Amino acid sequence: MQERILPAARLQGSVRLPGDKSISHRYAMLAAIAQGTTQIQNYATGADCRSTLSCLEALGVEVQTSGASVRIEGRGLDGLRVPEGTLDAGNSGSTIRMLSGILAGQPFFSRISGDASLARRPMDRIMLPLRQMGAQIEARDGRFPPIEIHGGRLQPIDYTLPVPSAQVKTCVLFAGLYTPGITIVREPVATRDHTELALREFGAQVEKKDGVIRLEGRPGLVARQLVVPCDLSSAAFFLVAALLVPGSSVLIQGVGLNPTRSALLDFLASMGAGLRLQNLEVRQGELTGDVLVRSSPIKGGVIEQALTTALIDEVPVLAVLGAASQDGLLVTDARELRLKETDRISTVAENLGRMGVSVEVREDGFFVPGGQSFRAARLDSFGDHRIAMAFAVAALRADGECVIDGAEAASVSFPEFFDTLRQLQD
Ligand code: S3P
Repeated sequence: MQERILPAARLQGSVRLPGDKSISHRYAMLAAIAQGTTQIQNYATGADCRSTLSCLEALGVEVQTSGASVRIEGRGLDGLRVPEGTLDAGNSGSTIRMLSGILAGQPFFSRISGDASLARRPMDRIMLPLRQMGAQIEARDGRFPPIEIHGGRLQPIDYTLPVPSAQVKTCVLFAGLYTPGITIVREPVATRDHTELALREFGAQVEKKDGVIRLEGRPGLVARQLVVPCDLSSAAFFLVAALLVPGSSVLIQGVGLNPTRSALLDFLASMGAGLRLQNLEVRQGELTGDVLVRSSPIKGGVIEQALTTALIDEVPVLAVLGAASQDGLLVTDARELRLKETDRISTVAENLGRMGVSVEVREDGFFVPGGQSFRAARLDSFGDHRIAMAFAVAALRADGECVIDGAEAASVSFPEFFDTLRQLQD
């Protein structure tokens, strides 16, 4: 599908975005292995979180969906059923990596795979700790989906994350639910902590101190009534769009502002963004609030080390902001970007190049000089949701109409994206 985007005069209005993708996956998986009926409101509407629900259904879990409300009949820690055939995680790295932790705890064989993009993403990062816990686990060429898991009889481990990845941390902690004893995960670089908060919400004993997480195995997880905050990573596209298009003012309501995610707001503020937070509240351990953003002159910025981990999903749209900023944007320590839905260093550079924006590509990042303008161009999502949306934002500042091929990729995390963007231009 193609989307045609015209340069925008200004963006104005108030929006409520779909539920957070990361949190939705975790709530659904934990609900499936809790006792009782969990109700989740504002569950993420994208295809990725639907993939999680259909995998859970294939494992015998009853799921009822009505709009963005999901009702999950928990089967308890040991109630999942042997799936028929291969579980399909679609495009979702979170589904395959996090669910594998639960599958490793089951006394049956399962096989999980996904689409062509997922089939290129490395799984050895979860296979290694799961094997240490006692699961037998194989993958194509030793590291790519499909993954085959003979689970059951796991032992707790003390595991230091070799790459800062919340998906890997979650996989180990979910497997740790099935061990008798304390599973320890050490993270030298902090990653998003939705799993720790969700586990506590469902009644597990989780302690966290100085980057060391301790989880007690075999908890009695209890069903909950939950509301998912709106997705800050989806909000990022509108934050950058409003900053870039002169005369804009946008209120984004009910957004998740968990401190392990909200480095985005601090970073934008450090670049000169006019942001205001209001109506802050904590629900289920997750901070939420409204963010008001106004178009502002933007300085340059550097994303490196721990900040790179904190902003990893936002880098594509920040690259667009960097090109229009005063001094440009340097991104380093970002090798992980090459392992996302696409190699995001290459796909960002390719689309910027098509718009006449110069970018200096490095192995672990890039530098986009500031003060550049965007030429109207034919762009491509390359099948990657965040690339489709980041370049829709760039197109708002182009000197004519842009076409985005493969724009349907946005529906992996944000099916309503293009409609919401149009709504803010009316
Ligand atoms: C996610 C963690 C990050 C992020 C992904 C969602 C999560 O991946 O890029 O979009 O929900 O835990 P990694 O764990 O691979 O860094």
